[in-house]
Amino acid sequence: MKAANESHESAAAARAAAALVVVQVLKNGRFLDAALEEARGRLRATDRAIAPLIQELAYGTLRWYHQLIGVANLFATRPFKAKDADIHALLLVGLYQLRHTRVADHAAVDATVSAADILKKSWAKGVLNACLRACLREAERVAQTIAASAELRYSHPAWLIDAISNDYPNAWPRILDANNERPPMTLRVNTTRVTRSDYLAALHAEGIAARTHSGVETALVLEMPVPVERLPGFAEGHASVQDAAAQLAAGFLETQPRQRVLDACAAPGGKAAHILERTPSLAELTALEVDPQRLERLRLNLRRVGVNARLMLADAMNRSSWWDGSAYDRILLDVPCSATGVIRRHPDIKVRRQPHDLPQLRRTQVQILDGVWPCLARGGKLLYVTCSVLNEENEQQMRDFLVRHTDAVAEPLQPGGNAIGYQILPGEDEMDGFYYARLRKR
Ligand SMILES: C[S@@+](CC[C@H](N)C(=O)[O-])C[C@H]1O[C@@H](n2cnc3c(N)ncnc32)[C@H](O)[C@@H]1O
Repeated sequence: MKAANESHESAAAARAAAALVVVQVLKNGRFLDAALEEARGRLRATDRAIAPLIQELAYGTLRWYHQLIGVANLFATRPFKAKDADIHALLLVGLYQLRHTRVADHAAVDATVSAADILKKSWAKGVLNACLRACLREAERVAQTIAASAELRYSHPAWLIDAISNDYPNAWPRILDANNERPPMTLRVNTTRVTRSDYLAALHAEGIAARTHSGVETALVLEMPVPVERLPGFAEGHASVQDAAAQLAAGFLETQPRQRVLDACAAPGGKAAHILERTPSLAELTALEVDPQRLERLRLNLRRVGVNARLMLADAMNRSSWWDGSAYDRILLDVPCSATGVIRRHPDIKVRRQPHDLPQLRRTQVQILDGVWPCLARGGKLLYVTCSVLNEENEQQMRDFLVRHTDAVAEPLQPGGNAIGYQILPGEDEMDGFYYARLRKR
């Protein structure tokens, strides 16, 4: 009986904790990963086992947020007060389970309603119970409401559906659906330490199912995500977690031994580490990062894989503050962007990103591009990268750059077509959405 009570309590505790994480993202603008990390830190030792469930509920609720809000509005007849944002979020967590998980309906309702006690708002049990049961009872009405609205059907904000459908008149439904998928966990094998096939064998020996990625020679795709501590040789830098699309950067940059390379927006350092693994005998890799905390993460990540770079806390736009005047043969510009290509990994982007962010991001990209271009040697190459699917940050940004800089020539990255760069859409070949363009200085 005690065990049954404990598991009932843990089930409710997981729902309450997930609701609080969702509130942190929706009300306080926190990153989902950071809010989850804090929630894990607050768990008592005896509750640690519910951490994966909290993560699943918080991720799922934010992934389906725009749809769940529409469903909640059907049944929650009065708006929730600002101080009851936790109960509102708990309702969404409950609806997420009913609509998108295999949790038995009665268990989902029961655990969600009981979570109101943990949030010290027992008065809300009635309204939660009524809304969740109405959603089950009125399944037909729910289905019709969802089908009638693209915002609910695809669970994206209207402005983003407009932006993506404008850029992709045919592919937009596929892109939005892909954004709602769970992404694979993909590894980059450090081939200076171990071959990909040997690392695959090491994973299998640990009981971790994985396969090679067909298009990217350093990439392995896991069948199921695992904590990094379970990866063989992780602490020794034998592998890193990195999406396959991100692993294309090092090859596209075409680094050669003894070159001077600049990574102007470097943290957390996945691409810098890969460049150094691929070309260990560079003359130098200078890694700039404007955010001190992220610079520290970059330092730790490079140390783990056993590579060295010259790290600088600096603003790439302002080259007089960091550049010694010696030209670089290669520049990687992995600029801040809307991150609309990695929504499947970070569903909170759909609620955190606002349409008015785009002009500012575009200006930042222009300032970084124009700021570092003079640092590139004649004949040198600059690789421009975003994890965005939006034309204005990608192809249009490059077209505008080529007009401003007549000494720049675009080198095609994919055969055929007349695009300047290479746009990967989310889900294509199991990859995140990325854009690459390579510019050579005449
Ligand atoms: C897309 S991330 C880079 C990811 C990194 N290349 C990797 O593969 O791990 C962009 C980074 O640029 C940094 N950043 C933004 N503006 C910057 C600036 N003006 N100068 C230098 N770094 C900047 C951000 O803090 C962020 O860490």
